[in-house]
Amino acid sequence: MNGARRDAIGDFVQKFAGGVTHGSLYFKDHPRVREMAEQTLSALRDHFATGAAGGSATSLFIGVARGRLVADGRPLIGALLAARRLVDFLKRLRSGGFLIKASVDADQLRNLFAFGHELGGEVPTLDDARRMLAERGIVAIELSPPFGQPGWLGVPMGGGGEEGGEEQDEPAATVTCVQQLHDGVEIAHAAVAQGRVPDVAGLQAVVERVRGHLVTDLPRALELAHYDDYDRYVVGHSVRVGLFALLVARSLGLEQARADEVLCASLLHDVGKARVPASLLYRRGPLSEDERAQVELHAEDGAELLAASPGATALTLEIVLSHHVRQDGRGYPTLPASIPPTIWGPLLYVVDVFEALTAARPHQARRTSKRAWEILAADRGGSRPDALALFARAVGLHPVGAHVRLSTGELARVVAATTRFDRPRVERTHDATGHPIAHERGAKADVEIDLSTQRWGDVDVADEAIEPFED
Ligand SMILES: [Fe+2]
Ligand SMILES: [Fe+2]
Repeated sequence: MNGARRDAIGDFVQKFAGGVTHGSLYFKDHPRVREMAEQTLSALRDHFATGAAGGSATSLFIGVARGRLVADGRPLIGALLAARRLVDFLKRLRSGGFLIKASVDADQLRNLFAFGHELGGEVPTLDDARRMLAERGIVAIELSPPFGQPGWLGVPMGGGGEEGGEEQDEPAATVTCVQQLHDGVEIAHAAVAQGRVPDVAGLQAVVERVRGHLVTDLPRALELAHYDDYDRYVVGHSVRVGLFALLVARSLGLEQARADEVLCASLLHDVGKARVPASLLYRRGPLSEDERAQVELHAEDGAELLAASPGATALTLEIVLSHHVRQDGRGYPTLPASIPPTIWGPLLYVVDVFEALTAARPHQARRTSKRAWEILAADRGGSRPDALALFARAVGLHPVGAHVRLSTGELARVVAATTRFDRPRVERTHDATGHPIAHERGAKADVEIDLSTQRWGDVDVADEAIEPFED
């Protein structure tokens, strides 16, 4: 599959899934839902315009085969969170895919997004779902029967598809877990945008529900929490900040309840941004002084809103209020003396900057974590040195979930920091010729190596990939 084609489809899937998400949060005529419909349509047109759709193609099929999202007969790689939302939506429609015709318009897309909101659980049958779509004027999107049933509208799986019937979507549970965190943050932000107090206890309940996966699979969670979708970057950023803060909490040996509290508070650290107009948040150009002041209010606004939520603790308020406080006084806001400072305000400052530097933004490309460390270390007036040191110990040079190339030529995924800053424990994923390394459950010892030990002393991390390697 050529790059342009995959990018066009990937972009379309991101926008389409974003529309489904926004449709489930807002009403049909909400500006965000309108905007997502327009963007989805434009991504679809780009896809057809690349000519990669076969030149004369008049429809695009996005469906689910063996638990995976596929487009035009190939599994979609990456965009896992977006994919999971579409998989869930299709499941509720009792369908195996959307056949989207080139004649679709923004109104039909908007109706489909809003339908996700109306639809509580699963519809009784596929025919019911089809009838309901038709009643809403959605005529250019056809619902396919599930994969494996007669009448599947998808292209047969081509090269690159999996063989064998038992296709276990291994990270599915972790994907769901990360998605629940996203949804929890999104719900809190939506509440603030609508002038309501965010439900901290509700988010805490989500954290408790997914805690098990975060204990066993934090590397995969951090890897999955990467987001390329600028539109959702405030939420994506909050999830990654939460997971990094959790990593620090674990490295400090905090008990489970306190670690949960840290995660929950960190997930909410930017909740005040839901009050900042999107035109400022997503601006690619510079902000005026007034506009900057408006954005900076998010810390105080967030703390004030959360103070009214029964589930918020002192730690929640401290983290939200003080995550932009710098040591040289050039940050914001000025903290009232009544707040007893813990290490968590300064820690969140470091986590927030590190996440922002290593993520894609409307106005900047993603940086490697090495570069992020250089920037953090050079900015002497920013971080409190003890907080920076604690974060360094918890995360290391290459954070958990990062993809690295080893000096042996093998590719690997970082699974834990060690006592050596630049020598993490890694799981080898591809051999030096680029072939995936078989990974049998229970045979981890063969693929997982600790670079801080003498045994692997000859192997170094050669470089870190910005984009994940494809499995
Ligand atoms: Fe912030
Ligand atoms: Fe932030």
